[in-house]
Amino acid sequence: MEVKHFLSVADLNGDEVEQLIKQASLMKRGNTPRVLSGKSVALLFEKPSLRTKVSFDIAMEQLGGHPVYLSPAEVGIGKRESGSDVARVLCRYVDGIVARTFSHQTLITLTEYSSVPIVNALSDLEHPCQALADSLTIYENKGRLANLTLAFVGDGNNVANSLLLAASLTGVNFHIASPSGYEIKKEMLSQARKLAASSGSRIELTGDPRAAVKDVDVVYTDVWTSMGQETEAEERRRIFSDYQVNEKLLSLAKKDVLFMHPLPAHHGEEISPGLLDNPHSVVFAQAENRLHLQKALLAKLLSSSNRG
Ligand code: NVA
Repeated sequence: MEVKHFLSVADLNGDEVEQLIKQASLMKRGNTPRVLSGKSVALLFEKPSLRTKVSFDIAMEQLGGHPVYLSPAEVGIGKRESGSDVARVLCRYVDGIVARTFSHQTLITLTEYSSVPIVNALSDLEHPCQALADSLTIYENKGRLANLTLAFVGDGNNVANSLLLAASLTGVNFHIASPSGYEIKKEMLSQARKLAASSGSRIELTGDPRAAVKDVDVVYTDVWTSMGQETEAEERRRIFSDYQVNEKLLSLAKKDVLFMHPLPAHHGEEISPGLLDNPHSVVFAQAENRLHLQKALLAKLLSSSNRG
């Protein structure tokens, strides 16, 4: 049986995303079956983490399984040990590998050598678990996804890529305002456009945050400097200075707009101080929903997977 990995939102189809959202909602209401009893996952992290680490750990515990956390200092993929060897060893012990890497290529290498599912817990290209949890948060607040419009303000980064794909699969219109040189890459856009052609989503790119957020249902932003880009932080602060989400920008969206951010936030940079406490903010519900969505995802991937 072929192993089903989850590196990209686009590894799922629209029906599967909908199923995961429904399953996660049930689990959130206290119905988490212990379907992973006797199973384990390795949580293999090259970068720091709060939400991802804790939510995957607790997700496994609630599903009856066992997580083993491996910190950035412990494994040293590609330094102390090659990615191919790490994958071939870990899959002899565990039933799944949840990995956070700098390079997306490292995840691809893991999939090439692993006989158990690899789950992307953030790479430089995508943050798919975040985008699925965000889709759940939007669904809970709006009662639907199709025909809503989400505006992403800022860097065309991993979080933006996964949100774009999730929106394109679920019929959410996607606006993005990024400074020149920091837009979503062409290959990602063309992949999303193909998905959007079936779901009916519209994708619009602009350099103007005000145009992007006008009359939208959701305003979303993320840090200007992602993990691994720290040497560019000063330059990025200058380039992105007109891309802050603040109350004035939010007021251009619909009256019942949701404000979203994956956290960690840099208060005073991509968001104005205090914005997380704005009545429109659903940021902490987003963080909570990582747990519920990932329970549904792990149950889907691991309860059907075969050990190699
Ligand atoms: N774009 C950010 C997201 C953190 C959850 C990063 O990659 O650092």
